[in-house]
Amino acid sequence: MKKVICLVICLISLCHAQEPAAQQPGPKKFPEDVLQTPPVVFAVGHDYQIMVPVVTEAMISCEINGKTYYDANNGVINTATRVRRMTVPQAELNAAKEYTLCCRVVKKRAEYYTKTEPLQKKTYAFRPLEKTENIKIFMLPDTHDHVKASIAAAQYFGKELDLLILNGDISEGLSGYNNIAQIYKIAGGVTNGEIPVVYARGNHELRGAMAEQLPLYAPVRDGYFYYTFRLGPVWGIVLDCGEDKDDGHAEYGHAVACHDFRVKETDYLKRVIANAANEYDAADVKYRLIVCHVPFMHINNKPFDIELDIYREWCKLLRENVKPQLMLCGHFHTIRVVRPGHAWDNLGEPCPVVIGSRPGGSMDDYTGTAIELSARKAAIHFVHSTLKINGEDVIEFK
Ligand SMILES: [Fe+2]
Repeated sequence: MKKVICLVICLISLCHAQEPAAQQPGPKKFPEDVLQTPPVVFAVGHDYQIMVPVVTEAMISCEINGKTYYDANNGVINTATRVRRMTVPQAELNAAKEYTLCCRVVKKRAEYYTKTEPLQKKTYAFRPLEKTENIKIFMLPDTHDHVKASIAAAQYFGKELDLLILNGDISEGLSGYNNIAQIYKIAGGVTNGEIPVVYARGNHELRGAMAEQLPLYAPVRDGYFYYTFRLGPVWGIVLDCGEDKDDGHAEYGHAVACHDFRVKETDYLKRVIANAANEYDAADVKYRLIVCHVPFMHINNKPFDIELDIYREWCKLLRENVKPQLMLCGHFHTIRVVRPGHAWDNLGEPCPVVIGSRPGGSMDDYTGTAIELSARKAAIHFVHSTLKINGEDVIEFK
């Protein structure tokens, strides 16, 4: 009898071993199980585009002062791509100084009765750029995969940082989503979604299979990477040179059409100038910036000699109309200020040009640029990832 009982117990144990209880994973926690990085608040025009990379299919919306802003197109909530975008008026977030991300993880998207996990929320503080003096900006061009080192350099101003500028070539190329994710790792890592960020595309971000999809994953104005922005007393225009060689260069394999892109951009620049009263001539604008990855000028040993008529026209339009105080660039992997009339200025630069990046051979070695704006000048410091100052300059405003 005892043997029979043991046999039954063994059989029951064996059955249980063969049929384990169904694993019911608990709901994903928000944000840690859903967001790849903290959110990033990009400035475009008079809006913010609050963007978050997700690691699981999720519906994300944003609440500000009781109003909900959705990531949707034509009435359909977006979940297919790995970055969510909520466009909100700057005035609303500037007044509220906080926003709440709302998340429903998708269990099954269906034609009928789509199933989601319960609603979860997280509130983020936000500090708009409102002061008019001692505005602290950190610019990161050409990070070229130096994620940790660029985040380290951008700690220069600590909690006093007012604006982060990602100025192109954030990754070496866009062969996969992981390259795009570096934008969020750096911007989310530096700002935690609490201050504004301006993004300008670099020429390396035209390269690779994901390059054509970048507008889905990065801030754009009506699909374009050139746009104006306002942040308190700062007006800026982000320009995009596209690639740095002619469209027919063998390196591109027929995969770019930047000439047409630049022609359209010239038209946009003229439209901005025609609307000056609502752009750079608005009453409360104190600072006028150009943000552009490629400094369109001749540089020793690296001649920039394409589309000279177009870039000469851009310089003239900017110089005679916008009258910017600063142009912020990267691309040449050097750190210096080039003033109008310098030997490198072959097109009639509209203002001093800050070329501000030096990525090193080691992933720990990166230098970016700290800019402090005040009424009469900009203080420039080129800051290494160790926070050592590698160079400095002062630009007096006219
Ligand atoms: Fe570049």
